[in-house]
Amino acid sequence: MNTSHMKKVAAEAALDYIDIGDVIGVGTGSTANAFIDLLPKVKGKIDGAVASSKATEERLREHGISVLDLNRTGPLPVYVDGADEATHNKHLIKGGGGALTREKIVAAASDKFVCIVDKTKLVDVLGEFPLAIEVIPLAQSLVSRAIIKLGGLPELRLGFTTDNGNIVIDAKNLDLKDAAAVEARLNGIAGVVSNGIFAIRPADVLIVGHETHADTL
Ligand code: 5RP
Repeated sequence: MNTSHMKKVAAEAALDYIDIGDVIGVGTGSTANAFIDLLPKVKGKIDGAVASSKATEERLREHGISVLDLNRTGPLPVYVDGADEATHNKHLIKGGGGALTREKIVAAASDKFVCIVDKTKLVDVLGEFPLAIEVIPLAQSLVSRAIIKLGGLPELRLGFTTDNGNIVIDAKNLDLKDAAAVEARLNGIAGVVSNGIFAIRPADVLIVGHETHADTL
């Protein structure tokens, strides 16, 4: 299955959500990269972009898109980003690339979150994909113990530091049927910066790329 083609199909459909004069939020990962690579087509239309990671910032600049500071732009009309898993009610797991905290910030600052995925990412219930949790290094053991108490299996992402200078703990085996409740519960553990569940603020639009077309949910 050629997922890179399906990612591109979804990314193309997301261009329809951009209006003249917009400053857009742009996510991180291979699907977001497919979207960034299409932005030269609408370069004259947008006023710039806010990036959810240093990698995205770099890629936007390579395409000649001006990268703006979220503290100066105010609310954004639209944020486009991928996901590791997505449900039909637009709850997501993100953070496979470790950019979850900045992604959550840019999503929260945006009026419309357009999530773009290939069809392999669509699931009935979240939780097959390990859940990324960004943690202040001092709290690694404390947070790992709390994850075990919740029934999860924590694993430190080795050799990885987030753009914010923190560690990522990937948690397997968590029951995410009530994704918003688990999102809030994890956020309440001291030392957790954020976690990769996007259910309290889900996507507003989910574009699912197939081989020949995109479905919009
Ligand atoms: C990065 C993310 C990505 O959106 C997620 O990992 C999906 O990545 P890809 O588009 O490469 O499959 O949340 O932190």
